[in-house]
Amino acid sequence: MDRFTGKVALITGAASGIGRATAERLAAEGATLSLTDVAADGLEETAAACRASGAEVLAAVGDVSDESSVESVVADTVGTLGGLDVVVNVAGILQFRDLRQTTLEDWNRIIGVNLTGTFLVCRAAVPHLLERRGNIVNTASTAALAGHPWTTPYSASKGGVFALTQTIAVEFGKQGLRCNSVAPGSILTPIQQAFELPEGADPKLVYRIMALDEQRGPETVAGAIAFLASDDAAHVNGTCLKVDGGTLA
Ligand SMILES: NC(=O)c1ccc[n+]([C@@H]2O[C@H](COP(=O)([O-])OP(=O)(O)OC[C@H]3O[C@@H](n4cnc5c(N)ncnc54)[C@H](O)[C@@H]3O)[C@@H](O)[C@H]2O)c1
Repeated sequence: MDRFTGKVALITGAASGIGRATAERLAAEGATLSLTDVAADGLEETAAACRASGAEVLAAVGDVSDESSVESVVADTVGTLGGLDVVVNVAGILQFRDLRQTTLEDWNRIIGVNLTGTFLVCRAAVPHLLERRGNIVNTASTAALAGHPWTTPYSASKGGVFALTQTIAVEFGKQGLRCNSVAPGSILTPIQQAFELPEGADPKLVYRIMALDEQRGPETVAGAIAFLASDDAAHVNGTCLKVDGGTLA
């Protein structure tokens, strides 16, 4: 398949996990890529892998929670690569902590990256996407759709991403811009190293955040993102596609 030949895709969180798998998938399908992440080494590894499969790649270290960083990544993407067709917001952070021990700093940091970061990237990208009837895929979580214990700011941030996605879909749908999200379940990536059972927590609740069957890797989410970002999903707007092996079914 080469569904992204001639298209420019910006991917955040591209240094690792789902972001890296998405970059590799879109590169394999012909995309020109703009990749960003706070992690410089991982970002360069992803860029090298995508270049090795023939893609033109612009890679820039950037922090999605920082307004000026986001504005400059989007401006450089458009200036260097000529425009923007697809934006995939993947950057995210996770923490497991009892609500009672969750600090305001925890809350602001997690909301700042996961929700404010998604907002900032969407806001900067939408004017360019409107010029090319482009689309956005955001990364929510099953934590947005059903209770995950010990993840108050994370789950709230993902609920926000879910709602923000629907809002953008409706606000710009008539102008040809689509906006969808994926809601991964438990996927094997480095973010899972964040898991720890809070002291005194009831371990019986762990089943709420576990996969129904075997855990899958980030390529399963990348495939769903590629579908939503492609013209195969031309009539799909404002949806949230669960990628959880039926855990929430
Ligand atoms: N793995 C799962 O089980 C799972 C489940 C549901 C949702 N998700 C979501 O998928 C997304 C990707 O997670 P992953 O599993 O690939 O984890 P990951 O840790 O492998 O990747 C997250 C990436 O985001 C980057 N990042 C963090 N803060 C950033 C910032 N301020 N600016 C730019 N980049 C930043 C990290 O450096 C990292 O490369 C996240 O939004 C996460 O919440 C993951």
